[in-house]
Amino acid sequence: MSKLDKPTSLWRNGITMLGWFLGWSLGLIGVVLLGMDLAHGHTSSYVGILIYLVMPMLLGGCAVLVGVGLVWAQRRARRGGREFRMPVIDLGDRRTHWQIFWWGLIGTALLSITLLAGYRAYHFTESVAFCGEVCHQVMQPEYTAFKQSAHAGSSCTECHIGPGAEWFVKAKISGMYQVYSVLFHKYSRPIETPVQSLRPAKETCLTCHWPAKFFGPVLRSWTHYASDETNTPWTIQMLVNVGGGNPAHGPIKGIHWHMEGINSVEYIATDRQRLSIPWVRVTEQSGKVTVFQSEDPKAQLSAADTAKLPKRRMDCMDCHNRPSHQFRSPNELMDQALSSGRLDATLPSIRAEGAKLLAATYPTQAAAQSAIEHALRTRYAADPRLDATIRALQNIYSSNFFPEMKVSWKEYPNHIGHKLSPGCFRCHDGKHVSEDGQRITNDCKICHAIMAQGPGKIATEYTVAGQEFRHPEDIGDAWKTERCDTCHTGSP
Ligand code: HEC
Ligand code: HEC
Ligand code: HEC
Ligand code: HEC
Ligand code: HEC
Ligand code: HEC
Repeated sequence: MSKLDKPTSLWRNGITMLGWFLGWSLGLIGVVLLGMDLAHGHTSSYVGILIYLVMPMLLGGCAVLVGVGLVWAQRRARRGGREFRMPVIDLGDRRTHWQIFWWGLIGTALLSITLLAGYRAYHFTESVAFCGEVCHQVMQPEYTAFKQSAHAGSSCTECHIGPGAEWFVKAKISGMYQVYSVLFHKYSRPIETPVQSLRPAKETCLTCHWPAKFFGPVLRSWTHYASDETNTPWTIQMLVNVGGGNPAHGPIKGIHWHMEGINSVEYIATDRQRLSIPWVRVTEQSGKVTVFQSEDPKAQLSAADTAKLPKRRMDCMDCHNRPSHQFRSPNELMDQALSSGRLDATLPSIRAEGAKLLAATYPTQAAAQSAIEHALRTRYAADPRLDATIRALQNIYSSNFFPEMKVSWKEYPNHIGHKLSPGCFRCHDGKHVSEDGQRITNDCKICHAIMAQGPGKIATEYTVAGQEFRHPEDIGDAWKTERCDTCHTGSP
């Protein structure tokens, strides 16, 4: 028997040996890293990428090297007319028993490590760190807003993927496309919204929220500051009729009346952002169907268009479109900072100065930060509160404005409310009528009851029955006839 007939001989070639050696070395490093990651408990994004994405690829490369070497050695042997034999397993041989034992042991260990690493890789690619930090610049706006939202304790996948294998696979396929679009800069800035492929609310929001349990009104309070020298405050407090309930126990009332599966509301939007809604169809629990159309001749749809255009059934996201990524407007941010004390309301004209700086257009985050500092240093040069004011305004800017991704409140309007964008008034503008003359209500009291309003940081004149709205600035009856967002844009 020549030397070449030995089963191991094919393995003894440079390429295979190299693959074999590299594979074992990398594998050893991988096991150590995996152990460290397990001991640490929480996977940081860069370590995660190294262990769960780069390492498997490198190991795969080593396996290919081993295979290529074997094929090459086999060909070479054939060409040289030399005989070679595939390994023979002789169960009668005691040495084979030992070999089976050892290889079985190593195989089981390798399989266990692979399964463990696979399980961790699955969790890592589902983690907030992976979604939010890996494509840092692209996801930074959404990730930053997420960390400030009521949902900071949940994870991206609970809203964006949800339970079940089908959506898991869909998400991984679209994830691969996203990796490609990030690598080759194919993504749009800002990322387009609404997200067309978002999973229906029933399968995401409702895994945690239980609409039958949204009862009664909630108290909300706003303190606004005027753009004058003294930053004069004005406070509004109202009970918002959130409503909801269980249809088995009585009628569904209040804002959550539109709940899916109870009263079905479908609509046609004529723009991508779903801000313009000329056609609405309601199917009540009783089966009664009513169609409302806009009275505005410019917005009206022909019968042919109505039949043809896609209809969307309203779900949680048609109002809560920013549950986790809210980018606020300069005016709102200044009002919040002044009322919470982050900014000192006794600094002359700070409301107007701050809002102007937040609303300006800057090419990059760094440019914005230095422009804000420069302007404040010029305006409040000798003031002892200067440094704290600069820091506060810079922080506010960096959590709500992302010039590199072109993200700000303007690109992502929030549908809750109606002051800065049409929101509820997309339908509740008092101008949507049915054939029998019924209107989608515009009565201020159907959605909220004003408890107190007036000058000062703390409202004083409370009424239990609710009061008529007083517009802080004298604009006559304009607030009754025009939509609030025709004048209120969120910036000076
Ligand atoms: C509470 C649910 C929820 C969570 C948690 C959540 N998102 Fe979203 N996200 C949404 C909704 C709803 C939209 C769609 C907004 C729309 O269609 O107007 C969205 C939109 C987006 C968009 C599209 C751009 C935009 O701002 O509209 C990106 C990107 C995004 N999310 C990333 C993330 C990342 C990254 C995380 C985790 C760090 C995350 N999301 C966590 C609900 C969520
Ligand atoms: C993983 C569970 C989970 C999922 C999924 C989820 N939420 Fe929440 N949601 C929460 C928790 C927890 C809170 C915080 C409650 C608190 O702070 O009292 C919350 C709070 C809220 C609030 C009130 C706070 C606020 O921001 O005004 C709204 C509205 C809300 N969620 C809407 C949604 C919508 C819409 C979706 C689907 C896109 C959704 N949630 C998906 C767990 C979830
Ligand atoms: C017609 C618009 C609309 C729809 C549809 C809608 N909501 Fe709301 N929801 C509101 C408004 C408005 C509020 C009050 C928010 C506020 O004042 O900040 C609210 C409040 C909430 C709150 C906070 C309740 C509290 O006590 O503070 C949660 C949670 C919530 N909604 C979840 C949902 C879920 C889940 C769905 C889908 C089943 C849904 N909403 C559908 C408009 C809507
Ligand atoms: C796509 C259209 C549409 C949008 C957007 C919309 N609604 Fe409605 N809403 C309706 C229709 C249609 C009715 C039923 C007709 C009516 O009662 O006027 C209704 C009814 C209501 C009712 C009365 C429920 C009852 O008790 O009888 C409330 C309260 C309400 N909506 C609040 C809101 C709030 C708050 C928002 C914004 C966060 C909003 N709606 C957004 C279409 C819409
Ligand atoms: C279809 C429901 C609906 C109708 C009709 C409605 N509102 Fe509102 N309004 C809301 C919601 C929802 C909010 C926001 C609550 C939140 O952000 O938590 C809001 C917020 C407000 C605020 C507080 C905004 C701020 O930043 O100070 C004022 C003031 C207000 N509404 C006045 C009115 C007046 C005046 C009318 C009648 C012309 C009216 N609303 C009609 C639903 C409605
Ligand atoms: C014709 C234009 C116009 C319309 C329509 C209008 N406003 Fe105003 N509003 C103003 C002006 C001007 C001011 C004072 C300047 C400022 O501080 O922005 C003001 C100030 C306010 C303020 C206090 C300061 C602030 O910036 O928040 C509130 C609250 C307010 N308006 C609510 C509403 C609501 C709610 C509606 C719709 C029901 C509405 N306004 C419709 C022009 C308008």
